[in-house]
Amino acid sequence: MTIPDVRAHEGVAYAPAQPARPATTPPRDGSGFDPETARRDIPVLHRTVNGHPLVWLDNGATTQKPRQVIEALTAYYGAANSNIHRGAHTMAREATETYEGGRAAVARLLGAASPDSIVFTRGTTEAINLVAQTWGRANLGPGDEILVPMLEHHSNIVPWQMLAKEKRARLVPVPLLADGSIDQEAFAHLLSFRTQLVAVSQASNVLGTVPPVREMTALAHRYGARVLVDGAQAVAHFPVDVQELDADFYVFSGHKLFAPTGIGALYGKPEVLAGMPPWQGGGNMIDQVDFTGSTYAPVPHRFEAGTGHISGVAGLLAAIDWLTGFDREAVAAYEKGLLAYAEQAMAAVPGLRILGSAPERIAVLTFTLAGHDPAEIAHWLDQEGIAVRAGHHCAQPSLRHYGVESAARASLALYNTAQEVDRLVASLLRLQERS
Ligand code: ALA
Repeated sequence: MTIPDVRAHEGVAYAPAQPARPATTPPRDGSGFDPETARRDIPVLHRTVNGHPLVWLDNGATTQKPRQVIEALTAYYGAANSNIHRGAHTMAREATETYEGGRAAVARLLGAASPDSIVFTRGTTEAINLVAQTWGRANLGPGDEILVPMLEHHSNIVPWQMLAKEKRARLVPVPLLADGSIDQEAFAHLLSFRTQLVAVSQASNVLGTVPPVREMTALAHRYGARVLVDGAQAVAHFPVDVQELDADFYVFSGHKLFAPTGIGALYGKPEVLAGMPPWQGGGNMIDQVDFTGSTYAPVPHRFEAGTGHISGVAGLLAAIDWLTGFDREAVAAYEKGLLAYAEQAMAAVPGLRILGSAPERIAVLTFTLAGHDPAEIAHWLDQEGIAVRAGHHCAQPSLRHYGVESAARASLALYNTAQEVDRLVASLLRLQERS
């Protein structure tokens, strides 16, 4: 395998045992993307932790925020705070414009034909639960099946399990191959006219696997099944086009896209959303209310009861503007090079095993280190200013596929660099040498 060396243009050969170099010109791989342009915007990346410059490798859990997002929140609360829709005054109109502008930005980000296909939610988990409890309750019955690959996050398993139990339907796991890919042959065999839904991640939070979602969707549609795509780990890493995927539903969380926590979105095909009953009842989602009964607002407002996370949408809008200001294809190419570099570098650590080697992956490196508990690894790295996650990563079946209950995970984003990977590797080598 040829590993693209993200430093090749600098003529710097990879040297695993060397201590971290002071930050110099960041590496580039010829993709046309310079991570320093992103780093400059992100204040947190310039702090120290435990006396060391921070290396943030926990992007799968949450991403750090550009100042443009922080400023959008400050500007909203400092000068523009108002509820939306109901108020007949200037600031209510301004807040409404921001909120609906955010909806339009999400539609553009996902390639949706209309902002009316976008429902704001608290995040991926709430979006999946919304679909389970509205579309799912209305469309599933006894004996129906929901196909869920074994690499899914718990948030794309448990809501379906609860729905299946309630409806006496069946949750059917789709097995994985040894490399962490979804077994496409098994998937084709498991699909049937009983399949009502396929729920699949566009990128795994543990194995990094990027499955062939478009092909899986096309196959599922032949059986009349709907397809929900969990984009929580995908949207920050590569461009998404829900129409090209032909996804019936697509969900993501803002905080994994450089936006604040507590805001995310559900995309639904217009004809699918239009046929779904409301979810939570309350203000903003109604047309007329009477004690004899109520009628509901058209989509997407029908699914947005109560006051929404308006400042969150302002932040999400700023985050989308920030991210789409870069050449997204160039960013994806840069991250691909960084993943290859990290894999090669980490392979030099004795006893280190990376889980997942599917051909298409995002830059997620989940690993075990012989003789060391994942929590101990994370603690050790933290002492050197390096943030990784340890545990089951809310995806226990993925880890069990590799015979482990717990692992450490370095998850990279566009602002990470080869120097930071070097610091991770140097620290792991020190840990391994110490024992
Ligand atoms: N789903 C997030 C993760 O993978 C929280 O860490």
